[in-house]
Amino acid sequence: MNGKAAFVTGASAGIGRAIALALAREGVDVAICARRKEPLEAAAGQIARETNRKIVAIPADLTKPVDAEAFVNEAHAALGRVDILVNNAGSSPGGILEFLTEEHWAQSLQLKFMGYVRCLRHVLPIMQKQGRGRVVNLIGNDGVKPSYWEIAPGAANAAGQNLTLSLAAQYGKDNISFVAVNPGPVRTERWAGLVDAMARDMKVPREEADRLAPRSIPLGRIAECEEVANLVTYLASDLAHFVNGTMIEIDGGQQKPLMDRFRDR
Ligand SMILES: NC(=O)c1ccc[n+]([C@@H]2O[C@H](COP(=O)([O-])OP(=O)(O)OC[C@H]3O[C@@H](n4cnc5c(N)ncnc54)[C@H](OP(=O)(O)O)[C@@H]3O)[C@@H](O)[C@H]2O)c1
Repeated sequence: MNGKAAFVTGASAGIGRAIALALAREGVDVAICARRKEPLEAAAGQIARETNRKIVAIPADLTKPVDAEAFVNEAHAALGRVDILVNNAGSSPGGILEFLTEEHWAQSLQLKFMGYVRCLRHVLPIMQKQGRGRVVNLIGNDGVKPSYWEIAPGAANAAGQNLTLSLAAQYGKDNISFVAVNPGPVRTERWAGLVDAMARDMKVPREEADRLAPRSIPLGRIAECEEVANLVTYLASDLAHFVNGTMIEIDGGQQKPLMDRFRDR
């Protein structure tokens, strides 16, 4: 993938950081964003040192339209092109309906769905001019395997999955292909927050909630960020350009009903 350019959102930590590193290891120059400047620049510095690629750190809050536009413009100016867009910056509050306020719902769609829409609106015209592009949307398996413990992430995910498939149908003529990646639980700070919400709603100790997700996964463990990053790197490569207008789960075969039944036991 030498000489290609990628934009990865939400890449100072977690899955996004692992994706930026994995792409850079394959020879890709990467522009990354997140809200907090210090951890973002630290991540960019570490990835650049390890891979010898150009890594550009651009602070941006993708809940703000103006920041999303500035991120894409600055990243384009710095790298000169964009072959790959990885929409990854997303967060949505876990919990059951009774605990979710109007603000939680608005916040959930504002980043996890509208953040993706905003970046796409500015990146797609560039890819159209280039005559080629690849979009990988990090979504989540709650969108296809619903769980009432994660009803807000599930709704935001379903919207993102619909967006991915719809745009694939429209932009194929421009040689731009789209794929959604649906992780189950992945060991990150965000996952820790979702387990906190589960413990609160189930009224069980934190350790009990922690054991629940692995029990719903036949492989008996949650994923590591690098496992998701490896899949995204393959999908972002030319080897997978024809994997278009579809979704891929990476969740160890998780069965959500096992989590939902827990409450009634
Ligand atoms: N972890 C899981 O179990 C899991 C499961 C399924 C799907 N996913 C999806 O995978 C993606 C990555 O999740 P993760 O667990 O790796 O998250 P994470 O560890 O919480 O990292 C989130 C990253 O996004 C940045 N970010 C947060 N809010 C932002 C905003 N408003 N604008 C720009 N950047 C922002 C964070 O930096 P700042 O805080 O400095 O902005 C950080 O770099 C998300 O879309 C998530 O929904 C995760």
